[in-house]
Amino acid sequence: MNRADFPPERQAVIDLEAIRQNVRRIAQIASPAKVMAVVKADGYGHGAVPVATAALQAGAAWIGVAHVREALELRADGIEAPILAWLHTAATDFGSAVEAGIDLGVSGWELAHIVAAAREQQRPARVHLKIDTGLGRNGSTSALWDSVIGEALEYQDEGLLRVVGLFSHLAVADEPHREETDVQLRRFREAVAIAEDAGVDVEVRHLANTPAIFSRPDTHFDLVRAGIGLYGLSPFAGQTSEDLGLKPAMTLKTFVAHCKDVPAEQGVSYGLHYRTGEPSTLALIPLGYGDGVPRIATGGPVRIGTEIYPVVGRIAMDQMVVDLGPGNRVADGESLLGREAVLFGAAEAGDPSVDLWAAAAGTLNYEVVTRIAPRVPRVYLHAGAAAEAAE
Ligand SMILES: Cc1ncc(COP(=O)(O)O)c(C=O)c1O
Repeated sequence: MNRADFPPERQAVIDLEAIRQNVRRIAQIASPAKVMAVVKADGYGHGAVPVATAALQAGAAWIGVAHVREALELRADGIEAPILAWLHTAATDFGSAVEAGIDLGVSGWELAHIVAAAREQQRPARVHLKIDTGLGRNGSTSALWDSVIGEALEYQDEGLLRVVGLFSHLAVADEPHREETDVQLRRFREAVAIAEDAGVDVEVRHLANTPAIFSRPDTHFDLVRAGIGLYGLSPFAGQTSEDLGLKPAMTLKTFVAHCKDVPAEQGVSYGLHYRTGEPSTLALIPLGYGDGVPRIATGGPVRIGTEIYPVVGRIAMDQMVVDLGPGNRVADGESLLGREAVLFGAAEAGDPSVDLWAAAAGTLNYEVVTRIAPRVPRVYLHAGAAAEAAE
């Protein structure tokens, strides 16, 4: 076997059929609204191009990213669907964006830069005007909305741009009882009405993220922007992926790198914050914060066989340790050396959930998957939709 042919010792396995299933589930809930697959930050760590490809195969109509650079990479890799990029700076390469036919989210200040690029490229830019309905990040204020619309329409009349969409972003849709979403929805409707009264005629009005897709049908409009749900993860604190009919797409796994019997009082990892209570067996898991596993997530679960063990002691850059419990298992002929060790994956495989790691790290499932480092090879399952149909 060639060295390169050895299976990766550490891998993030991405099930592209799970992505397709999740897109179909979201599309069914959102219908007749269309689905934008949000693949920013390298597809929340899953790989932007394979995820975008799978999402489009399963019926997504649009792709969404934060940065123009991300959009250009997708175009360069052959993604031809409409792509919206919504977070820019004065240093953004608007010229390349216009040239590549990338749709641009606009709060207001960008318009001057975008029309300059459109003039240079001799091609109209495609923009989505964004209203800040309460999140306090991007988007025009209500006070400036009239003038943003007026300016955009002037440029549109000059043939320099086309206003393709109107949009906003929700702040608390993951907490469905909160009434701020009602306020944001009302403000969005008002902003759309003002734009339409001024003569704006868009293809798509869009507001909903994953939590709103599941909890607020009144926010769906023409297009929903699905991020975390695409990856099979739940945005709600009290609901699992399975509760929402979603399948987690990423499984993070490796092999036990060392397994040894130790006496009582054995210290484990830097700082010696953990000591075995009695003679025990330790298994070394070769994944650490250099691989994107949060250093703070001591107690996070690792599945070896059918058992799930908590990480003990500090998580280091390359490795972590689980305590297999009392008794000397290696001496008893039960070394787990070389056994598969799974940090998280899909419930149907018996794997711990990403949510458990998020809880151990005091963060969200979004952050856990997104931060899995480039050092961990991505291995794709079910890459071909055609192959899939034949299976
Ligand atoms: C503007 C915008 N729309 C949609 C999304 C997708 O959100 P979610 O992952 O909750 O579906 C994001 C992600 O943060 C976003 O920034």
